[in-house]
Amino acid sequence: MNLPRDIVVLIGSLRKESFTRKLAKAVLGLMPETMKGTIVEIGDLPFYNQDDEPNPPAQWVAFRDRIRKCDGVLFFTPEYNRSVPGVLKNAIEVGSRPPGKSAWDGKPAAIVSASPGTMGGFGANHHLRQSLVALNVPTLAAPEAYIGGVAKLFDESGKLINDDTRALLQKFVTAYAALVERH
Ligand code: FNR
Repeated sequence: MNLPRDIVVLIGSLRKESFTRKLAKAVLGLMPETMKGTIVEIGDLPFYNQDDEPNPPAQWVAFRDRIRKCDGVLFFTPEYNRSVPGVLKNAIEVGSRPPGKSAWDGKPAAIVSASPGTMGGFGANHHLRQSLVALNVPTLAAPEAYIGGVAKLFDESGKLINDDTRALLQKFVTAYAALVERH
């Protein structure tokens, strides 16, 4: 692995004004010099269908290659019905196949979940963790990042204006950078 580490940032919302995306952008600005984060879009990945595996869509192939060559994956997820939005779950399925060739295998990861509500997407965060265990993805345990009240954290330009949240995310990304170095 060369410095800076190549970190793929995945966002589980397609909404133009997504709070989760705004959080992701704030965290990109907090990354230490040892890592460079890049948002990889997942909205154009065709739904996973096992029948297409012999002749996979070009978007699947490109996504798998991109994940394989990265040094780590940073997940930002909203919570849909107490779980992970389908668009993000689909990306996980796409990257996980074909069997024995999962692009996720061994990639150090971390999760930020967010919600305008008080629970900060706890349910989505832990459902995502469950999938990552199955995929042999070492995932940052602490600090946990459940960002509640997310609708109130940004100004009109989308800039993070809450100092406590910025401090938590700074600790989070510093701990994640250390996890990446350990792997
Ligand atoms: C939601 N929302 C939501 N919020 C939450 O805290 N727990 C939940 O289970 C759900 N479920 C849910 C389902 C669906 C289908 C939608 C569209 C929304 C609300 C959600 O947190 C809110 O819309 C966020 O703003 C979504 O994140 P982005 O798009 O702002 O990043």
